[in-house]
Amino acid sequence: MKKDLLSIADLGVEDIRLLISDAIDMKAQGWVSSLSGKTLALMFQKPSLRTRVSFELAMRQLGGQTVYLSPAEVGLGERESVADVARVLSRYVDAITARTFSHQTLEALAGYAGVPVINALSDREHPCQALADLMTVCEKKGDLSGLTLAFIGDGNNVARSLMLAASLAGMNFRIATPAGYAIDDKTFNLAQSNAVGTGARIFCTEDPRQAVTDADVVYTDVWTSMGQEAEAKSRRKAFAKYQVDNELLSLARENVIFMHPLPAHHGEEVAEGIIDSPASVVFDQAENRLHLQKALLAAMLGGLEIPLAGYR
Ligand code: CP
Ligand code: NVA
Repeated sequence: MKKDLLSIADLGVEDIRLLISDAIDMKAQGWVSSLSGKTLALMFQKPSLRTRVSFELAMRQLGGQTVYLSPAEVGLGERESVADVARVLSRYVDAITARTFSHQTLEALAGYAGVPVINALSDREHPCQALADLMTVCEKKGDLSGLTLAFIGDGNNVARSLMLAASLAGMNFRIATPAGYAIDDKTFNLAQSNAVGTGARIFCTEDPRQAVTDADVVYTDVWTSMGQEAEAKSRRKAFAKYQVDNELLSLARENVIFMHPLPAHHGEEVAEGIIDSPASVVFDQAENRLHLQKALLAAMLGGLEIPLAGYR
């Protein structure tokens, strides 16, 4: 049966461990793979820099090919039904990476597709981002288990995937959101049940200071995600006290790293200068999208060998 990646919930503890370790090995040691003859469709309903470029290059570097389909070209659910697009594309390509407004669209696409579907961001989750983020923390800190990541801002797609991924990786996850913007109960409960097995502690608060105190990683994302532009003004008001600035960061551990999935609004969710400061690892995060997705595509489509260190 085909295996999709729509949510971090589609993965287990061992999947996450292997993806991260393969990605780190591929980054350091290179790879031998045979995705030649395989094609990945990239179907996007929203703009993208990192996700599109990193998936295109990941596939090419593994010897495969991509076909990019822009919002206007496909008219997903408008020019043609999601079900028909899924069935047609499945006759041409070996996997589909899709960025949709609604997570239901993604689920419908996966339900009708005969090939694996990968979530390239929906309104509910951004699993490829969370996996690359954990890889980055692992690189910087040497391990994940027992560390504490504090997420400040919106309980959004990025936060949901990170909470679930942290709970499976044994990493403590704290989130500070304003009232009305908390992570949904279903995701929280799932993370809590994962945490029973891995020892992660999951904690939600409205107080950014409480979340950040003694954290190893401080993470934020935009206050207004793609598709929520009409709410931008009210969101700026609701999140005004949730900016990550030097004062907030000073409550974290001395060797704290700052993370953001990008694109960022400098001076809004993150104070001017923080992204350029020594604590910031945001460009490593962006680079690691490529390495992690290479490990993911190799795992999903087959044919990966990582040479032993010293043999290249
Ligand atoms: N972080 C991320 O997914 O960036 P893009 O929207 O540019 O793909
Ligand atoms: N939460 C943001 C993430 C962008 C990578 C959005 O959905 O727009």
